[in-house]
Amino acid sequence: MANTVLIGAQWGDEGKGKIIDILTEKSDYIVRYQGGNNAGHTVKYADKSFVLHLIPSGILRPGKKCVIGNGVVLDPEALFEEIEMLRKKGVSVKNRLVISDQTHLILPYHRLLDKLKEESKNSHKIGTTQRGIGPCYEDKMARLGIRVADLSDPKVFVARLKHVLAIKNRILTKIYNHKPLSLNEIVKKYLKYREKLLPFAANTSLILNRAIKQKKAVLFEGAQGTLLDVDHGTYPYVTSSNASAGGALTGTGVGPTQIDEVLGVIKAYTTRVGEGPFPTEFPDDLMKKIRDKGAEYGATTGRPRRCGWFDAVIGNHAVMVNGISKLAVMKLDVLDELKEIKICTGYRYGKSVLRDFPAN
Ligand code: IMP
Repeated sequence: MANTVLIGAQWGDEGKGKIIDILTEKSDYIVRYQGGNNAGHTVKYADKSFVLHLIPSGILRPGKKCVIGNGVVLDPEALFEEIEMLRKKGVSVKNRLVISDQTHLILPYHRLLDKLKEESKNSHKIGTTQRGIGPCYEDKMARLGIRVADLSDPKVFVARLKHVLAIKNRILTKIYNHKPLSLNEIVKKYLKYREKLLPFAANTSLILNRAIKQKKAVLFEGAQGTLLDVDHGTYPYVTSSNASAGGALTGTGVGPTQIDEVLGVIKAYTTRVGEGPFPTEFPDDLMKKIRDKGAEYGATTGRPRRCGWFDAVIGNHAVMVNGISKLAVMKLDVLDELKEIKICTGYRYGKSVLRDFPAN
């Protein structure tokens, strides 16, 4: 199989896990390139159900190599919980999982700030998963991030953490009236993770490019969806990474000329979790019916998903910004009992009808 990027063409939860699992059979490497444990990919494999947040779903198929790319933000606690969950269900990650040494780490202050920021935003809140994703990407851009590679020398790690934590504690105490976090506690915890994390760390850009040269097939597993992309989504009601196809390049260190195909996954109706615009949202009675029939509850937070009619305006937008050549349409059967199915082809706005996805 060719090198393929698979992305969500709506607001996430399109059913990517199922398609990834099918494509995995013909892939050698399965790679996560953005987001973190805000994602939740549900896969049924060998009669067992798995919800994966961080580790590529390819891990369920024996012999496949899985990569967490540099574009991901990694919470070690969540990673080791997931590894343990897999172990209990008979899946081993040994010699099959590699993590980029450039991947940014989620630290306790990221999770705390995610929560405090949301609480302080009142009507402006985003409805984040509160996993610390946004604050970790903020630090990456502000050049205050701490990466897997920083753990290789404990002295470097402690010095860097000391510098960053002093800034975070000023924000926590002076802006949010919260007590400061203890340097020693974080150091103790993360130096323990260090032992377990470093054996997975590698230059994954090198690994993937070498694999591509040897004609191995790489599947780039997108998380969230195009409309949650920080550039191409419903900003500011988005996640903090590039969930669209472009993220697969920057998030792995593989060049655009190496990608053969971009596949989209789209649901026959639309859902979104969290706040933000949703032009085709169902009225209450239909919302409840479709939510129950389609089991539309968040795989990560358990929150009920908002549901609505298929929106071809965002569908077209997703096809365009990702360069999608094929779409998998999911969950058509959920609509079986409806007498009429509506499809949105434009947004009425004053006297005009918008056919192209607007910026606001
Ligand atoms: P964050 O990614 O936790 O910062 O959340 C930002 C927005 O993205 C919120 O509306 C979340 O509900 C949404 N979101 C993040 N990850 C997912 C996902 O995997 N599926 C659906 N929505 C998500």
